[in-house]
Amino acid sequence: MQDKTRRDFLLESGAVSAALMIPGSTVFALQEKGGEKAGEEVEVSPTEDLMREHGLLNRVLLIYEECGRRLAGKDEFDPKVLTDAAGIIRNFIENYHEKLEEDHLFPRFEKAHKLTELVAVLRQQHQAGRRVTAQILQLAAARSASDRQKLEAAITAFIRMYRPHEAREDTILFPAFRTLIGEKEYDALGDRFEDREHELFGKSGFEGQVENVAGIERELGIYDLAQFTPR
Ligand SMILES: [Fe+2]
Ligand SMILES: [Fe+2]
Repeated sequence: MQDKTRRDFLLESGAVSAALMIPGSTVFALQEKGGEKAGEEVEVSPTEDLMREHGLLNRVLLIYEECGRRLAGKDEFDPKVLTDAAGIIRNFIENYHEKLEEDHLFPRFEKAHKLTELVAVLRQQHQAGRRVTAQILQLAAARSASDRQKLEAAITAFIRMYRPHEAREDTILFPAFRTLIGEKEYDALGDRFEDREHELFGKSGFEGQVENVAGIERELGIYDLAQFTPR
């Protein structure tokens, strides 16, 4: 079912042609619109799915960095940019991505008595992150100097925690997860993640969230990747 919805989205967006789609949990990598190369076959495993979501989280952290920089430099920006970015963190990262980690990854480590100290810290950080997001949402439109300072501090604290958090998951937790779970269960979990994604975010799922983030980047003038290349 979830494959059907993802397939539909890919087809509607014109990213791939029907002939390239095959049944099962296999999807083809999105090719750039107008690109010359055909889409390549890609298996989306549960941890690869989670790592892509970390990529999305990283792009929101870049947005947060830009907002923090402007707050420090007393540079104006539309508060809606920050509200939208924090909304993606709340809905997609906290209520979906982290929920998957809490429901399907962490308990398996705890049961196997593996990496339990790391998992305890990761759990605490999810909770701390939720508190900071609430603060960012509450202060996003702040006008007074003291509130803007608090907002900047909250943004900085969020970035400071999530960079090492996601890096530790990518390099330690996710590779170890593969050794805790059989192949069949691993594949089935990938399907469950996809189902949940489309249940919560409709047909466009992850790809729709990427589009939303790109829209915020454009708004802030940080979308063009080439601007970050040192001259
Ligand atoms: Fe996490
Ligand atoms: Fe994560």
